[in-house]
Formats: sequence, C-alpha cells, structure tokens
Amino acid sequence: MDKIVITGGRRLKGEVQVSGSKNSALPIMAAALLSEEESIIENVPRLRDIQTMIKLLRALGAKALFEDGKVLIKPGKNLRPLAPYKLVSTMRASVCVLGPLLARMGHAEVSIPGGCVIGPRPIDLHLKGLEALGAKIDIQHGYVHARAEKKMRGNEIYLGGGFGSSVLATGNVMMAAVLTSGKTCIESAACEPEVVDLARFLKKMGAKISGEGSPRIEIEGVKKLHGANFSVIPDRIEAGTYIFAAAMTAGDVVIKNLEPSHQNAVIDKLRQAGVTIQKGKNIMRVKRTGRLKPVDVTTLPYPGFPTDLQAQMMALMSTTLGISVITEKIYPDRFMHVSELNRMGCKIFLEGASAIVHGVKRLSGAPVMASDLRASAALVIAGLVAEGTTEVHRVYHLDRGYENLESKFSSLGASIHRERE
Ligand code: EPU
Repeated sequence: MDKIVITGGRRLKGEVQVSGSKNSALPIMAAALLSEEESIIENVPRLRDIQTMIKLLRALGAKALFEDGKVLIKPGKNLRPLAPYKLVSTMRASVCVLGPLLARMGHAEVSIPGGCVIGPRPIDLHLKGLEALGAKIDIQHGYVHARAEKKMRGNEIYLGGGFGSSVLATGNVMMAAVLTSGKTCIESAACEPEVVDLARFLKKMGAKISGEGSPRIEIEGVKKLHGANFSVIPDRIEAGTYIFAAAMTAGDVVIKNLEPSHQNAVIDKLRQAGVTIQKGKNIMRVKRTGRLKPVDVTTLPYPGFPTDLQAQMMALMSTTLGISVITEKIYPDRFMHVSELNRMGCKIFLEGASAIVHGVKRLSGAPVMASDLRASAALVIAGLVAEGTTEVHRVYHLDRGYENLESKFSSLGASIHRERE
C-alpha cells in the first residue's frame, strides 16, 4: 500500500489541468451497454474506479478497453446480465448497470451495493423508478433481481427522497426509460452536470430526452440505440479541490480545462471568505493575498454547494481564524475526516449533521488515515499548509478519484511524493 508524504508551507503557484469527470464517465460507460454497437468515450481519467467499471463491463460480456484517455466499449448482441458482489462491493457506481441491462436484456441481477464509510447509501429510489416502468423487483441473497415480465411502459415517476434528488437513481431510470415505449417524466430529477452529460451521451446514441439539468426530465422511448463517440465534461470536484488548495496555501493558481459555471456555489462562498477568483472560458484564476474570513456552508444538491467538496471546505475553514459552521445535508454522517483533521491541530466539534470549526493559526503535520476519497483530498490540502511532514495513509481511496494528484500538486510547487509503505 502507498502513502503520500507532504511537507507543508509552500504557496501553490502556476497552472494545473483538470482531468475528465469520474462521476460523468462511470454512468456513461454503463449507458454504452444500451446499444450493441461500439461507443468511444473520450476525456476519461485513468483511475481505479474506471478500471473497475471496465472489469464489470467485461464480466457482463462486453468488450471494453482503456487506451490513451479513451474507453472503447462494444457490448455486442448478448450480455450476461449479472453484476457480481465482488465488483459492486468495491464501487457503488456499479449499480448504474441495472437500468441498461434491464432495458436491453429484459432482466438483470445486480448485487446490492450496501452502505459505505460516508454513511448508509440506499437504492430504494433506483428500484422505485424501475418498478414504475413496469419491472418486477425482488431482493434475494443480497442481489436485486429485476425482470420486465410484461412489456415495460413509460410513466410519471417522482424521484425525490428524504435527502432530495438522487444522481445515480435519475441516471438509472433515464437509462431504462430511453428504450421503454411511451413517455416517461422524471419529477424531482437530479440537476447535476453529470446527469446532463449522461443525457447528452444518450441523445448522441439516438435517445429522445428533454429537460435534463432541470427537475423534470421527459423521455420518449425509442426501439433501438446506436453507438456514439463522446467526450466527458471536466471533473468539477477535482477542479474544486485545486481551487481550495490554492486558497488554502495563499497561492496564485490558474486552473485549466474546467467549466467555471459548475463552480458557482464554491465561487460564491470563497469570494465571501476573501479569495480572488477570475473566470474565463474553461479557465479560472484563484488567488489569495490577505487573511480569510470564516463563512458558513450547507451542502445541497446541485446547484448548491457539493457534498464532495465539504471536507476540503472544512480544511480551509480550519485555518481561517473565527468560527464557521459546515452543515451536511446529503450524507449526515460524512464526517470521518474530522478526527483526522483534529489530529493535525484543527479544532472541529460535531453537533449532529453540523461541524463547528474554530479556525486555528497553524496546523501541524501528522500521520493521518484517509477514510474515503474526498476526506483524503482534504487531508492532503491540510498537509500543504501544516508545519512539518504529513503522511496520508490508505492512498488507494485517492486513487479511486484523482488522476496524478501528487504530480499535479508538485508542478504547482508543493513538496509532495508517494512512497511504498
Ligand atoms: N438516496 C436515497 N435513496 C436512493 C439513492 C440515494 O435515499 O435510492 C439518498 C442518499 O443516501 C443521499 C442522497 O439521496 O442522502 C443523494 O445521493 P445520490 O443518490 O445523489 O448519490 P449517488 O448518486 O449514489 C453520486 C456521486 C457521489 C456524490 C453524490 C451526491 C457518483 C458515482 N457518485 O452518488 O460521489 O457524493 O452523487 O452528489 O456519481 C464521490 O465522488 O466521492 C462521491 C461519493
């Protein structure tokens, strides 16, 4: 297992390029199963989760290959519609194959993903949506058995849950509905850019979809889809992580290949805190010269402040003198990073789904344990400003979602490298 070793204290300066979006690429790769023909997906980051999805597509009988930032997928006529526990348990996004398999093969068996370190992660909304299209769902021995016993038909489906809309449930139902005859309306659909990207890919395959990016998506089922070439959007969470790192280190960083409009909630909070942000087309400059002011943040579905940047925001507020309150409305238990940040000298207190952050003057480097992908990123950026050396263990979490993180930070002047434990 690897660890990342950081010596803090250097201001980040220079330019960094954002990779393609993991959370866009994963459902799009699953969507390629909806046609027999080959699809080519570009701007795909080289990450462990992408490799897992390739393994899953192969296990389902598709040809799948990663080459030079491109994924080639040729599903062919016959798929084996069984997504095994071994793969689904390592990556929750595997559940995205449920909708496409059901639509193409009329049945699917997909292992239930289960919870994870950021809290319970139910799939009731995915199942509710597929049932509304006419699928019969049974849960047996830890697997979802979905079967289209009669012909599936489009329907009105309300997909709101206790924590708002669901990104992957919206994707799963949309993927099943594109090949289901009649009209489907998804109400309370997720509006995240990754859902819009998936809809754009499906449309390139021949699907009829409108309203993506709004809470009401309409789909007119078609008989058949064809393969498509597509390039995924830049990763807004990776981009956001560099924005926070620049602010944290009082740096001056130009972030390239990002979509600035995806960052509005982040920009708003950081400007309130005193960070200077200039936006251009696919480019942004983030600069901090003076002291920051504390700001309160609540995570919400898009276009609200993203839960996937909550830990990074907390790292920033930890070194901002004063008190800020960070409230988590998507995953109320997503606070595993708090105790590790506190080991570095942060003063964060948990009150239910809120973290009360008392900013301190300085952090001190320490060995820390990464618990999930975004928590790991927060520990790395805390390490960039901590006095002395920080060792982030269990780096495999980071490798699930950040392409070349150490080399990108090194190119900005950070002292950071990877070591074998
Ligand atoms: N929820 C339900 N029932 C469901 C599905 C979700 O109650 O059937 C709840 C969840 O428990 C949560 C809320 O709805 O409280 C929103 O979860 P959502 O379904 O939107 O999450 P997801 O689609 O499973 C994706 C990203 C996550 C990101 C969330 C929220 C992928 C592969 N994952 O997950 O990304 O946090 O949306 O934006 O797209 C990450 O990249 O680190 C990550 C965790």
